[in-house]
Amino acid sequence: MEELQIIGGSKLEGDVSISGAKNAALPILCAGLLTSETILLTNVPDLHDVSTTIKLLSQLGSVTRKHGQNEVSITSNNIENLKAPYELVKAMRASILVLGPLLTRFGEAIVSMPGGCAIGQRPVDQHIKCLSALGADIKIEHGFVIARAKKLKGTLIRPDVITVTGTENIIMAATLAEGETIIENAACEPEIVDLSNMLIKMGANIKGHGTNRIIIKGVDKLHGTSHRILPDRIEAGTFLCALAATGGNIRIKDANPYNMLATIDKIRLSGVNVKQDNGNLICSMSKRPESVDVITREYPGLATDMQAQFMALNCIARGTSIIVENIFENRYLHVQELNRLGANITINGNSATVHGVDFLSGATVKATDLRASASLVIAGLVAQGKTTIEQIYHLDRGYENMELKLQKLGANIKRATNRNDE
Ligand code: EPZ
Repeated sequence: MEELQIIGGSKLEGDVSISGAKNAALPILCAGLLTSETILLTNVPDLHDVSTTIKLLSQLGSVTRKHGQNEVSITSNNIENLKAPYELVKAMRASILVLGPLLTRFGEAIVSMPGGCAIGQRPVDQHIKCLSALGADIKIEHGFVIARAKKLKGTLIRPDVITVTGTENIIMAATLAEGETIIENAACEPEIVDLSNMLIKMGANIKGHGTNRIIIKGVDKLHGTSHRILPDRIEAGTFLCALAATGGNIRIKDANPYNMLATIDKIRLSGVNVKQDNGNLICSMSKRPESVDVITREYPGLATDMQAQFMALNCIARGTSIIVENIFENRYLHVQELNRLGANITINGNSATVHGVDFLSGATVKATDLRASASLVIAGLVAQGKTTIEQIYHLDRGYENMELKLQKLGANIKRATNRNDE
């Protein structure tokens, strides 16, 4: 099993380039199922979840090719299989994003129920409710969502909760439905805007993407296009939290600051100086960070995907902070690992109190989920001595070459193989 070994204490200095956004790449890859023509994607992050999605699309019959590290083409002109198997869906819940495209283009989709994950139950009831409202006949049998529809019909739809992939599934399904679909209570994330922008280039008729009310007028057919995936705002935010903790001076390149204003606002409160310069963030930190309170919200609020990283920063900040996680019911698995490093965090329901300590001390810890892994990396960068992070396949799901990017910034971090548990 691979692990990361970090010797803490180095400041971060230099340039780091942000990769394409995982949470845009996954729905956009699945949108390739909506046309028989070729989609060419650039700035695709080289991640485990992207590879899993490519494998799933290939199993369905798409000709999906990687051209170099960050370029992928998809041609779905010979889809023979409409079933997404449990093995792939359990490896990556975002596989549910093939449901809308397969259903609306082929009239049928059989997708394994994703099941829960470390951070929560992650139900898909709203995906099912809203696709049923579009006229799909959906039943759950033997752990699979079985959806059929001769032709989806546009209507007014309102998910009970604001759901990112739920909104994405509805948008994709509505692009080829008959008539107009209005989604109220839609999610507004930038990744949904990026998906919608690509669908519009494919010939879809979408308005209001990025707001809570999206209007889609169905069309007969979508055609091929090319698209560059937008920068990953969560990766950029992760490097901001790392800098806040270690101190130093970094330039974050290829970021889109306008998609991460809540994070930038919060990191400035911790004491980091952030300036924008044509899509780059010029950042410096020369003192111990101040504790910052964090309340996660749907976009444009502070992203739940940034909660663990801010918690790591707060562990060594001056003062006490309160973190409230409003999106997922179990997104504190990183707390016990951070406390193993000497942090002082207590949990009470969906809130955590973090008393800043003067220093953390290195230890062996284990990654439990994607963003928890990132928080352990940040903690390891400032802990005294050596921190070993096990089970880093969680990190590889959502960060492209994290340790190489940190090495270039001067961190003492390397990937190793732990032979004991092979
Ligand atoms: C997306 O997950 C992201 N994943 C997550 O990123 C992110 O944390 C999350 O949105 C919130 O921003 C991708 O985009 C691939 P939701 P998603 O549906 O769509 C409840 C990461 O670290 N809900 O917006 O699965 C749900 O339980 C990952 O990159 C229902 O009740 O999240 C949660 O409490 C982690 N029924 C809330 O809504 C449903 O049918 C928001 O979930 C759907 C969701």
